[in-house]
Amino acid sequence: MKVFVTGSGGLVGGCLARRFGRGHEVLAPRRAELDVTDEGAVRRFVKETRPQLFVNCAVLGVDECERDPAAARAVNTDATRTLAAAAAEVGAGFLHFSTNYVFDGEGRAPYAEQDEPRPVNVYGLTKLEGERAAFESNPRTFVVRTSWVFGAGKESFLSTAHRELAAGRRVRAIKDTWASVTFVGDLVSRVEEILGKGLHGLYHVVNEGVCTYEEFAREAARLAGLDDEEAARLIETVTESQVRRPARRPRYSPLRSAATAELQLPPLRHWREALAEFSRQ
Ligand SMILES: NC(=O)c1ccc[n+]([C@@H]2O[C@H](COP(=O)([O-])OP(=O)(O)OC[C@H]3O[C@@H](n4cnc5c(N)ncnc54)[C@H](OP(=O)(O)O)[C@@H]3O)[C@@H](O)[C@H]2O)c1
Repeated sequence: MKVFVTGSGGLVGGCLARRFGRGHEVLAPRRAELDVTDEGAVRRFVKETRPQLFVNCAVLGVDECERDPAAARAVNTDATRTLAAAAAEVGAGFLHFSTNYVFDGEGRAPYAEQDEPRPVNVYGLTKLEGERAAFESNPRTFVVRTSWVFGAGKESFLSTAHRELAAGRRVRAIKDTWASVTFVGDLVSRVEEILGKGLHGLYHVVNEGVCTYEEFAREAARLAGLDDEEAARLIETVTESQVRRPARRPRYSPLRSAATAELQLPPLRHWREALAEFSRQ
């Protein structure tokens, strides 16, 4: 199968492109070769290459979206629509990624697929509109919402906390925002299973368990062999309001999945187990 992956320079797209590369022909142009907001260029690329599956991992990050809402809409919503429609025109399926940040995080229980989204920031809003545009433009759409992804290929807090702590460097960890965390390898394996079932729709894919960045950092410290005293010295605990990020984050936005249970897929392993594997790699 010929698979077209956008955002392959990123965490999820990179992992997916490598995994699909084992059994498929993967077309993974980087942004410099194909800007997904350039509709004409996307259409020419699709006409020339005629992929059978489109995988959209191109995205504008949470704080960038808040700073530049027009760019957020162009990448997260309009380009998603363009790609989904281009896929439909060549009879291809469309796999798109979305986020727990479509929810407001004001509840106290994890969100399932049928729960009503209510974004609190530009990223969440443009991602939600992207989901809707994808479903409207291509009936063969899978949307996978995931949350706080970690793995090799991104210099984010979750992906580097273990490395930093093991090297004796300090990290700042937020203690009052809760979500599910997801190991990118587990995400991609589950996505392959969902695609294999062939049932288009909306799916939540996260590891089991809920945490704050502080709890994540403490576990990373434990896995790095630090004792409680060393961990307390290296992990600076802060509140969301203290870090003053441009975009507001939902306070409590873990995900659960009713849709994957319907496909008879068991929950993914606990994030602590996944982090242990990642930290060994
Ligand atoms: N990471 C998470 O914690 C997380 C959580 C929930 C949901 N998700 C979802 O998972 C998906 C992938 O996220 P990620 O974390 O893997 O993203 P990422 O690491 O930030 O990578 C984003 C990619 O998008 C590409 N891109 C941005 N604008 C583009 C444009 N105009 N044209 C072409 N490519 C463009 C970037 O290319 P360059 O590198 O060339 O700039 C980069 O490769 C997204 O849909 C995101 O919403 C991620």
